[in-house]
Amino acid sequence: MSQRTLVLLKPDAVRRGLIGEVVGRVERKAGWRITALELRTLDRAVLEQHYAEHVGKPFYEPLVEFMSSGPVVAMVVEGERVIEGVRTLAGPTDPIAATPGSIRGDFGTIVRENLIHASDSEESAERELKIFFPAFA
Ligand code: PPS
Repeated sequence: MSQRTLVLLKPDAVRRGLIGEVVGRVERKAGWRITALELRTLDRAVLEQHYAEHVGKPFYEPLVEFMSSGPVVAMVVEGERVIEGVRTLAGPTDPIAATPGSIRGDFGTIVRENLIHASDSEESAERELKIFFPAFA
């Protein structure tokens, strides 16, 4: 089942020079394609839309602040079961709970700076792609 997903390399990944490492892992998955890719600094309005479901949660403000602290790489990835697949590559939210071999397991230690965002369902992917890449939606 071919799908599309939105992937963001968070400001920590960009600051630490991990763009190539993370993009490389995505590119090497058989049959997946990166169909859009852009370095972008996100303003609060975009982040409020993107993280609308988390308004009011204790991590919301730190998350929005962190995500606007420097450029991110936003990309569209297409391919077989790519929504679940990129989340597997990323590992769970808490990098200490993430298995080595996953992006968060290999490079992260603290929850806020967990390197990568990936849509968690087809509905989220469609909603998020409209925010970041309206031409693709
Ligand atoms: S929830 O409530 O289960 O849906 O939350 P979760 O999926 O674990 O996390 C939602 C997003 O919030 C980020 N997050 C945090 N950011 C900063 N600080 C803290 N403490 C924190 N806890 C969770 C988490 O990385 C998710 O962001 P995205 O961009 O979706 O990965």
